[in-house]
Formats: sequence, C-alpha cells, structure tokens
Amino acid sequence: MMNDQNRMIIAQITDLHIGFEGEGEICQNSGKLQSVLRNIDTQILKPDVLLITGDLVESGSHWAYSQLRDQLRGVDYPILWAVGNHDNRDAFAEIFPDAEFNAGFLQYAVEDWPLRIITLDTLRPEYHGGYLCETRLKWLDQKLSERPSQPTLIAMHHPPIDTGIAWMTERDDAPWILGLKAVLKKHDQVVHITAGHIHRSIFRKFDNLTVSVCPAIAPEVSLELAPIDPNLPDNRPLLNTSFPGYCLHHWNGDTLTTHAATVTAGEAIVKHDSDHAFIVQHTMHGK
Ligand SMILES: [Fe+2]
Ligand SMILES: [Fe+2]
Repeated sequence: MMNDQNRMIIAQITDLHIGFEGEGEICQNSGKLQSVLRNIDTQILKPDVLLITGDLVESGSHWAYSQLRDQLRGVDYPILWAVGNHDNRDAFAEIFPDAEFNAGFLQYAVEDWPLRIITLDTLRPEYHGGYLCETRLKWLDQKLSERPSQPTLIAMHHPPIDTGIAWMTERDDAPWILGLKAVLKKHDQVVHITAGHIHRSIFRKFDNLTVSVCPAIAPEVSLELAPIDPNLPDNRPLLNTSFPGYCLHHWNGDTLTTHAATVTAGEAIVKHDSDHAFIVQHTMHGK
C-alpha cells in the first residue's frame, strides 16, 4: 500500500552495536536486527525510509561495517544514517561510500519527502557523550535558514536532554546542548528531534519541541533514576537482556506521531480475519 503525497512513515532503528561479540563471531545483535527488519516488513503501510541513529557497530571496525552492509541488503527503501560514539567515520565511509558528509561530518539534509530530515553528527572520538562543534552548529543554522517554512525532523545519536539515567545521560547545560538550543531558537520549522544512545524509549520536552529516544537493537539500559556515585558501586543493574525495539514516526501532513515498538518472539494471537473482524467493528471509533 502506498503512502499518500503529504504523509510519510519513518522507521527508526538505533544502537545496533554490530560486532559486539567480536570479529568472526555470530553476533546476537545481528539476529535482533533481522527480527526487527522482518517485523517492520509485516507492516501493511511500508515505511518511506529507514533511519538508523548511530552506534551502528560496536567498535568502529571495517569488519563490523561490512557485516552491517550485508545485513541491510534486503532493505528495499532508502536508508539514512547518523553516527554514534561507537562509530568510526572513516571506516563507515569506506564501506558506505555513498553516504553524504559535509565539512567532514556525517550530517546532511534530505529533501525527498514532505517532512524534511536533517541528520546531525554528534560523534566526538574517544568520548562517550555527544558534541556539536561550531562548524556543525553553523551548518545546521545555514540549512534551516535555506527552507524556513519546511517542516523538519532532526535525527542524531545523542539525545540533547538530561534523561535521568545518571551514568548514561547528558546534562541540560552541556555547552553543545546550549549551542543547539541557540540555533533552534532562530528557527520554528523543526517539529521533532529523535535520537538513540540511551538504549530505551524516552520522551521529553526540549524548549518548545519534543525529543524521542528510540529503543535499541542491542541490550537495554536498565531503568534506574537514582543518582549514581562512580566510585561507590551499589549493585544496581546497568544493562538488561531485552527484546529489540524500533520506532515508527508517522507524519500526517501536519503533525508527527511517534510510536515505540518492541519486537518479541511471539506470534500474533488474534488477527483481523473474518473470525475476528467483530473486534475491530466494536472497538473502532469508540463504539
Ligand atoms: Fe549504544
Ligand atoms: Fe551511544
């Protein structure tokens, strides 16, 4: 089924960490990636684009990027990329030579759909946290100035918010976040920012915007909001085994709605078939 002209669906996956188990090993994250891609494929309304928001691989190796390339061969719609703190720009660019870099950073604007998509490169080599230097912020300012009335989605790896997960998060007053806020204050066409990195789904306000964090392909970061002392281990869980997840962002021509999904091993137990159509008939539109 085709999307109509003013609508679009963006499927988002993040934090694939391909190669986590090492070179030459079969990686569990690869299997999870395949199950998510299969799940997205079951949608009747196909996505217009697959957005992958960084930590594409675990350690920035050529081998892992080539594994990723092989695993994405079956995706028959466009793919957009952002890089995360586990990525390596040079190795990525060698395996994906068609990816667009600007001023040495993997950030670009895509004009192909009713919702403009701008990806930002928040990678700062050797650092866990995010970063946007003056060059990247100026580029964003310029891109937003070019099309001031075009609704725009910004995608990046590091969410520019304090998420409350103390060992993973950014601070709201980090200089690169204040710099991003200063740029966005000058433009009002951005409708949403979406990110990854925290390995769980999170939604929060960012000035007058909403930010969503997409659940990961790789294991989930544990939900614990207590402050943490790096030098005083308190036995709290940090990472959990988990089912992988993804987001579907639906642009209806006016508003963006974000759905976070988890892909479990389960099969559908009720389908909209002739035996069960009564469920939809009795439920739809509040009947
Ligand atoms: Fe990650
Ligand atoms: Fe990350």
